[in-house]
Amino acid sequence: MRDRSLLVVVLAAGEGTRMKSRLPKVLHKVAGRSMLHHVLEATRAAGATRTAVVVGPGREDVAAEAMRIVPEAEVFVQTDRLGTAHAVLAARAALEQGADDVLVLYADTPLVRPETLAALRAPLADGAAVAALGFTPDDPTGYGRLVTSGDALLAIREEKDASPEEKAIGFCNAGLMALSGAHALSILDRIGNANAKGEYYLTDAVEIARADGLPAVAARADTEEVAGVNSRIQLAEAEAILQKRLRLAAMAGGATLIAPETVFFSADTQLGRDVIVEPNVVFGPGVSVGDDVIIHAFCHLEGAHLEAGVSIGPYARLRPGTRLDAGVRIGNFVETKAAHIESGAKVNHLSYVGDAHVGAGANLGAGTITCNYDGFAKYRTEVGAGAFIGVNSALVAPVTIGAGAYVGTGAVITSDVPANALALARSRQVVKEGWASAFRAARAKKDDKA
Ligand code: UD1
Ligand code: MG
Repeated sequence: MRDRSLLVVVLAAGEGTRMKSRLPKVLHKVAGRSMLHHVLEATRAAGATRTAVVVGPGREDVAAEAMRIVPEAEVFVQTDRLGTAHAVLAARAALEQGADDVLVLYADTPLVRPETLAALRAPLADGAAVAALGFTPDDPTGYGRLVTSGDALLAIREEKDASPEEKAIGFCNAGLMALSGAHALSILDRIGNANAKGEYYLTDAVEIARADGLPAVAARADTEEVAGVNSRIQLAEAEAILQKRLRLAAMAGGATLIAPETVFFSADTQLGRDVIVEPNVVFGPGVSVGDDVIIHAFCHLEGAHLEAGVSIGPYARLRPGTRLDAGVRIGNFVETKAAHIESGAKVNHLSYVGDAHVGAGANLGAGTITCNYDGFAKYRTEVGAGAFIGVNSALVAPVTIGAGAYVGTGAVITSDVPANALALARSRQVVKEGWASAFRAARAKKDDKA
């Protein structure tokens, strides 16, 4: 199958009115990436040589997402919504260029796996002209039914056009279809709209192929995998299925999840070996975690790279641009953003480290805050290797603390501190011996008079 070229046509024209959203349906996210992104990723893994994406009129946002994922994708607009076959034909120019195999997918079916796409496509190499993907849902209402005889697929009948006998069939059309490139256009061009909905049904490809004497077959998929998303409820169901997959994959890859059902991954989360993830942790997009990292309970990570042996949390928030080198320790209630913290450095309690570089072995005391923003622009803080920042210090950026320097507790640092210096930036303590007892005595006298 490797040497056969594959044109993928992704139908992404659905507005998804049941989502009740300003966002087009296929841009809604599952495990941190759009449904369209998931489908394009699966087709890429299944060996797509060319990708055509059919979008609705004025949907530059959907087109842009498609090109972000597959820069060489060709985008076509389906102006009138006349049915699934009509939608595929919007990509006529791509079909005319020819391909050995053509695969049609819906962008609102985000959980389909590359293996399933390969299984759907496989019969084409053996001479089938059409292959449909079937599944057996608990409730077949609304789906097209696959009319089969042994291995042969005789027809796909839409619910509205089905006879009572056909309605009794439980084997349903998932919607994904593989077509032989040699026959695809000729078949699609002959699909009419004489049916209950007056639409050009892609599913009619089966009977047209058979009338030409060309074989049609059905492949089978799990219901979970081909579940389409039409509502926020189904979006949450898809999320749950995908999270379950991602948790199992994380554990299979050598990570310990103490309470897997409380850990939420993004589709692109990367975990090393012997990573321990405590309960209630959320991985946003763009997180990679090295070996032997421990993520304590209630952490939130996004766009962060953690090298081996790092420890974070409980209650740490790592925001995009965070880079923690080997052995760094980030403690409770610490937020980092665009911060590179070098090996062995510690930020253990109640801190904000943003737009900063912290050298190896530095220690940022409890409550250290980088003041990186003046309401207009962001400024950088540089903390040298081995520096020690006393508790409750504000580092007003742009500012540099030299290597090995000390900053005394409670400082507001507004100018650079040279290497190995001590910076004190707080008012000197005043002690008045006996002041408190004199004060109390004076108050007592006043109260007696009153
Ligand atoms: C379709 C199948 C049905 C299958 C079901 C699975 C047909 C005729 N029927 O029915 O057998 O069981 O999916 O969910 O194919 N679309 C366009 N342009 C159009 C029409 C549809 O882009 O003009 C896109 C939709 O956005 C959607 C997909 O094609 O992503 C399916 O369309 P939909 O109207 O939901 O078809 P169903 O009636 O559900
Ligand atoms: Mg549908």
